[in-house]
Amino acid sequence: MTGPQGADDIDWEALRAVARDAMSHAYAPYSGYPVGVAALVDDGRTVSGCNVENASYGLGLCAECGLVSELQRTGGGRLTHFTCVDGDGEILVPCGRCRQLLYEFGGPGLLLETPKGIVPLAEMLPQAFTPKHLDK
Ligand code: THU
Repeated sequence: MTGPQGADDIDWEALRAVARDAMSHAYAPYSGYPVGVAALVDDGRTVSGCNVENASYGLGLCAECGLVSELQRTGGGRLTHFTCVDGDGEILVPCGRCRQLLYEFGGPGLLLETPKGIVPLAEMLPQAFTPKHLDK
């Protein structure tokens, strides 16, 4: 692929830097586990998010919640490339629930940077429940 969104010329390091900056804004006093995420959108935008916890532990928001919220708020579109980092800035896999969030806005072809390399979301969330299931 060629062009700014091509798989081969994506600057994953730059995208990870955005995720690390987002992580530095995390509010994670309960888990002590800050997370940052960043993604490219099909129109060239970059969106990001950090986790925001709550005294009611189970109500904490994963970093991906902030990311999809920013995506929608700033004009929608489709996610094409995604990365997630932990408090050390190391590449992290998104949790199971957040894979579902990512599927909604990126679909099976969304490319994820993982500790095992770049993989499509279809591999990280096989047999996904999708909006198509709601059709019947
Ligand atoms: N966390 C995220 O923000 N995203 C993930 O994909 C993995 C987990 C957050 C949730 C919680 O605030 C902290 O990491 C520890 O689980």
